[in-house]
Amino acid sequence: MKYLTILFIAALMCSCGAARQEAEPAGALKDAFADKFLIGVAVNQWQMNGEAPEEAAVAARHYSSIVAENVMKCEKIHPEEEGYYWAAADSFVDFGEKNGQFVVGHCLVWHEQLAPWFCIDKEGNPVDSLTLKQRLRDHITTIMTRYKGRVKGWDVLNEAILDDGSYRPTPFYRILGEGYIPYIFAVAHEADPDAELYYNDFGMDHPGKRDKVVSMVKAMREAGLRVDAIGMQAHMGMDYPELADFEKSLEAFASTGAKVMLTEFDMSALPTVNMTANISEMTRMREGLNPYPDGLPEDVAERWNERMDSVMQICLNHAEDISRVTFWGVHDGNSWKNNWPVFGRIDYALPFDRALNPKPFIKKYIK
Ligand code: GLA
Repeated sequence: MKYLTILFIAALMCSCGAARQEAEPAGALKDAFADKFLIGVAVNQWQMNGEAPEEAAVAARHYSSIVAENVMKCEKIHPEEEGYYWAAADSFVDFGEKNGQFVVGHCLVWHEQLAPWFCIDKEGNPVDSLTLKQRLRDHITTIMTRYKGRVKGWDVLNEAILDDGSYRPTPFYRILGEGYIPYIFAVAHEADPDAELYYNDFGMDHPGKRDKVVSMVKAMREAGLRVDAIGMQAHMGMDYPELADFEKSLEAFASTGAKVMLTEFDMSALPTVNMTANISEMTRMREGLNPYPDGLPEDVAERWNERMDSVMQICLNHAEDISRVTFWGVHDGNSWKNNWPVFGRIDYALPFDRALNPKPFIKKYIK
């Protein structure tokens, strides 16, 4: 009798184990997308230096590509003219290599998070064009050479075009004119001829930006420059962009012969903030700005998942043109959306929740 009881308990334990396995499949996102496109994630320095091992484990297990959220940006990696800071970027590249991931460098030239010294002289005046060209060459060449053969693709240029299709009047543009763009792509290709090179921007659904990016990339490719892919950042909200416009841009970018990537995909679940609202409107809105501090209501979560799923479906339908889909952070708590455009909100913008559970739209791919 005692023997039977033990057998019964043992059988129960086995069946519980099996049930648990079914509830938590051992598969990985990257396997589900292996024959479609790379599936990537932006990682932060704490995930890379061992302070957030559980988050790092999700990045390693599920993603076939990683990109550095911040540590390769100019202000971090090249804060002084003569000083490069490599430690954090080195850990990032080591991590990707160790996990067999396609490592993406972000970003070589961007007017934001730019080291303050980069475009000015000692008196604080804009440098002349020769000096700026030399600084750009040194910056790009030094960083790409250090990671030659290890970082497989680079966002060479970030956010150079405005929504209406005109050039963003950054210091690079003001000092060098539009010629700085083909120049930096040529320099990057010289630095690592095997690396893929990308143009990356947000708000790519805007027709003006769409047309300009198409003509700019076409012109560079026709001139024999290497531009492998166009990155659509894909920072979205529940009411923007119109997915039809987004898809139209995706198709237009593919028509250049370059690949298309979603490079910083996330979707805020919170009310969209009208950045042009005046102060009294803002005060009225403030109450409603952080409506879900304790969790997303089921109906909102459902709508969010449906919309994320629609974007994934668009990507799968265009898989032959898409080389990578990268999410901008491992889990909801990592997302910049918690602090932008309003500081200190609780947002739910990413595929994994704060407890590192996959959300329904992505869970279905983990077998
Ligand atoms: C842009 C940049 C990213 C990141 C986000 C906000 O999209 O390309 O590196 O800074 O803004 O976090």
